[in-house]
Amino acid sequence: MNRVLGLILAFAFLLPGCAGEDEPVVNVYSHRHYDTDQALFDRFAERTGIQVRVVSASADELMARLEREGPASPADLLITVDAGRLHRAKTRGLLQPVESDALAAAIPSHLRDPEGYWFGLTQRVRILAYSRDRVDPDELQDYEDLTDERWEERVLARTSENIYNVSHLASMVAALGPEAAEEWVQGMVANFARPPQGNDTDQLRDIAAGVGDVALVNSYYVGRLLNADDEASRELGRQVGIIFPNQDGRGAHVNISGVGVTAHAPNRAHAVQLMEFLVGEEAQQAFAEANFEYPVREGIDWAPTLREWGDFHADTLNLERLGEHNNEAVQIFDRAGWR
Ligand SMILES: [Fe+2]
Repeated sequence: MNRVLGLILAFAFLLPGCAGEDEPVVNVYSHRHYDTDQALFDRFAERTGIQVRVVSASADELMARLEREGPASPADLLITVDAGRLHRAKTRGLLQPVESDALAAAIPSHLRDPEGYWFGLTQRVRILAYSRDRVDPDELQDYEDLTDERWEERVLARTSENIYNVSHLASMVAALGPEAAEEWVQGMVANFARPPQGNDTDQLRDIAAGVGDVALVNSYYVGRLLNADDEASRELGRQVGIIFPNQDGRGAHVNISGVGVTAHAPNRAHAVQLMEFLVGEEAQQAFAEANFEYPVREGIDWAPTLREWGDFHADTLNLERLGEHNNEAVQIFDRAGWR
């Protein structure tokens, strides 16, 4: 390539915002980094001629970048996990509303923002994982049961900084009120087997290692272990049983990975087209086969492990409420001493 052309191309990449609405491209800022996602973007490009360019980073980095770039941002879509984070992006002015019949038809209303700022792509359930050796699952039905004194020094959890815990507590604030939610946190703290630490997989490892007997984790972490390439991980997975909590009440807490169009998207129409593709049957089937999450769309076959776990009753609280109660949840964790 000659040097002048090289410089022109380099310059074009430095000014991605000037591409205009007609260029067949969608720029995605994504916190998900799964091979499936890339395969789906490739398929979308083949089908439509619209190229998908992906920038991968943590959710916080991507949001900081969107803020820094402002109207000059090349980003069209933000993909991240947890409705609490999507709500944060919305309130920081990083997203814009979208109206789409296809999105509304594909995604149950509680799994998308009522104002159209973000939409769920996959669902994950906050479950109770327990030691098959040391726990009788009949002793445990609801999140609230974990505060019973029978679980003293047996409960495992990660820190309250984690967005999964914040969103889950926000759902309890919405369902039970702030006082009952705080009492629950106090009861959890009283029953911890050790100070909160590690990620969801570490909680499962600590069940197998005998550090504690029951943990609060996202469903797909157990699915990953059970389907791991190495036998040691699969054995670890087999030592753990799972319970879908609150089946006789409000249902198990679900959260999403989701997507929203960025506030200054230069390729808005293509971005909406990509979102619609991602909730279509083909993409939802691919999501369902990867990472052991649940599709948002009805009528899609689940991964075999999820079919074995069976159907469950999910909390249908609109996930926007998680964002609304986010700050309150953080304060409750702080006051009640869940670090
Ligand atoms: Fe996760």
